[in-house]
Amino acid sequence: MTTDPEEMSMSLPASLAATTVAVLGGTGPQGRGLARRFATAGLPVVIGSRSADRAEETAKTLASATGGDVTGADNEGAAAAGDIVIVAVPWDGHGDLLRSLAGTLAGKVVVDCVNPLGFDKQGAFVLEVEEGSAAEQAAALLPDSTVIGAFHSVSAVKLEDPDVAEVDTDVLVLGEGENREACDLVQDLAGVIPGVRGVYGGRLRNAHQIESLTANLIAINRRYKAHAGIRITDI
Ligand SMILES: NC(=O)c1ccc[n+]([C@@H]2O[C@H](COP(=O)([O-])OP(=O)(O)OC[C@H]3O[C@@H](n4cnc5c(N)ncnc54)[C@H](OP(=O)(O)O)[C@@H]3O)[C@@H](O)[C@H]2O)c1
Repeated sequence: MTTDPEEMSMSLPASLAATTVAVLGGTGPQGRGLARRFATAGLPVVIGSRSADRAEETAKTLASATGGDVTGADNEGAAAAGDIVIVAVPWDGHGDLLRSLAGTLAGKVVVDCVNPLGFDKQGAFVLEVEEGSAAEQAAALLPDSTVIGAFHSVSAVKLEDPDVAEVDTDVLVLGEGENREACDLVQDLAGVIPGVRGVYGGRLRNAHQIESLTANLIAINRRYKAHAGIRITDI
């Protein structure tokens, strides 16, 4: 396996050539996991954080682990640097962060993987969201961005584990009809992770079910001591 960034990027789909991926909240497990896989595939990645120092620290670790081009910045710097910007922060901070970055994110493809869930002794449960879903809240707060929902149920544990050669899951990609090209792009992005297939999953008004499904997957993981994913059949 090559670790030469130039050779790695040669195997990327043409749609992702010269594409930088930024990850807001990239210091957490989900952001780090996605960043690791994208950097391994040869994409330049910028880790975002509320603290530029924390982002740089995470970026340094990922760059040395993957041999890829990973840098760090505060969330605003990362948002400015990314062509595709992944939102990987907890639901609690979602609205405020996106509201503060609306100008910087204008014109960009913003990929929301946030699951509005609560946790108690019985496990995970679905929170009510005024806009319908985290993805719809993002679309409402970012009228000048192209908001796509994806990566909701891919396991951070699997993404972060260098011994997991293939992450066995489909990634449902949601977006409005007029954003077909951006959905295709994010399906391509999902597909650079070995084992993963990006599948179109409908419009944002149906993002609620996909975000909520993660509560069921968490219950499955507890019962079966697993990091379960999903597969769509017959397509
Ligand atoms: N973990 C998974 O397996 C998984 C799978 C699919 C989807 N997701 C979704 O991905 C998102 C991130 O998950 P995670 O497990 O990585 O979460 P996390 O560790 O709780 O948070 C990720 C990062 O967000 C930043 N952050 C924390 N609170 C914030 C706030 N109030 N405002 C802005 N930034 C804040 C922190 O970075 P700084 O302190 O450096 O800013 C933190 O490292 C969640 O919404 C989750 O639903 C997670």
